[in-house]
Amino acid sequence: MTIHKRLEERTCEVEAVIEQYLPEETGHQKTILEAMNYSVRAGGKRLRPMLMEETYRLFGGQGQEIEPFMAAIEMIHTSSLIHDDLPCMDNDQLRRGMPTVWVKYGYDMAVLAGDALLIYAVETGIKACTMTRDGNKVARAVGILAEKTGIYGMIGGQVVDVQLTNQPISREKLDFIYRLKTGALLEAAMMIGALLGGASENELGQVERMASLIGIAFQIQDDILDVTATTEQLGKPVGSDEKNQKTTYVTLEGIEKAKEDVARISAEAIEILHSLPGENLFLEELIRILITREK
Ligand code: IPE
Ligand code: IPE
Ligand code: MG
Ligand code: MG
Ligand code: MG
Repeated sequence: MTIHKRLEERTCEVEAVIEQYLPEETGHQKTILEAMNYSVRAGGKRLRPMLMEETYRLFGGQGQEIEPFMAAIEMIHTSSLIHDDLPCMDNDQLRRGMPTVWVKYGYDMAVLAGDALLIYAVETGIKACTMTRDGNKVARAVGILAEKTGIYGMIGGQVVDVQLTNQPISREKLDFIYRLKTGALLEAAMMIGALLGGASENELGQVERMASLIGIAFQIQDDILDVTATTEQLGKPVGSDEKNQKTTYVTLEGIEKAKEDVARISAEAIEILHSLPGENLFLEELIRILITREK
């Protein structure tokens, strides 16, 4: 089977897991429940839950307790996209091939839907408690999820990203932004997979480093695609960074160096993967195809 066919299959499997944890659209607060589900169901590559499950398998995980966390990480990621698209942030109108949540449901509901998904993710992750005898690990996984999402993770990165819009940025600051705004959620995804799969402390540290590299390469590729791809390909507006006068990896280093660095940084991540016990060829191929991804 080709990697692309396998990827399609895995995406469907991951989506089926996420679907099980979405809230029912009933009650007086129905509108926000619809907005939450609308944004999650709109599509997306499902990269974070997929990396989480593949890392879980790498370390020999075979249980079900990974599933609430797969849904949780996708909820957090989606909440970050809802807020990222708001008029006060990147001001974008298309996401995952559909009108952004603020365009469809209004600014007020979009703020609330982002908040709601963020905390519903915690509610969801905690459900893993009933699926394993190792409640301590579930508690620690929730801690990782919170830390990598919050002020020392994704949100911290978005803060600096937004504050420096319209301003020249040093490479050092740009690296900080990418490590946090995008790297941190990938770290959470792969660390939770590793932890629940049975990784040792030392292995957990290596997974954190590997995921950080994948995240940085992923964000550089996102910057490249913002310049080189089409809106149809991405399902989100191209040229968003230029519109917002953002300093990106591409504006700082140029497109050729950016491409080289995506390949170099990803190769570093694969080296770490090789140094870990166990083997997961699909995971390796997944990291590799991210280097040349076109959406
Ligand atoms: C977009 O993430 C935001 C970034 C961190 C670059 P994805 O490219 O994973 O978005 P979806 O989930 O596929 O829509
Ligand atoms: C967003 O970076 C990162 C997060 C949402 C945390 P971008 O602003 O480049 O993401 P896109 O291009 O809108 O998906
Ligand atoms: Mg942004
Ligand atoms: Mg954006
Ligand atoms: Mg972008």
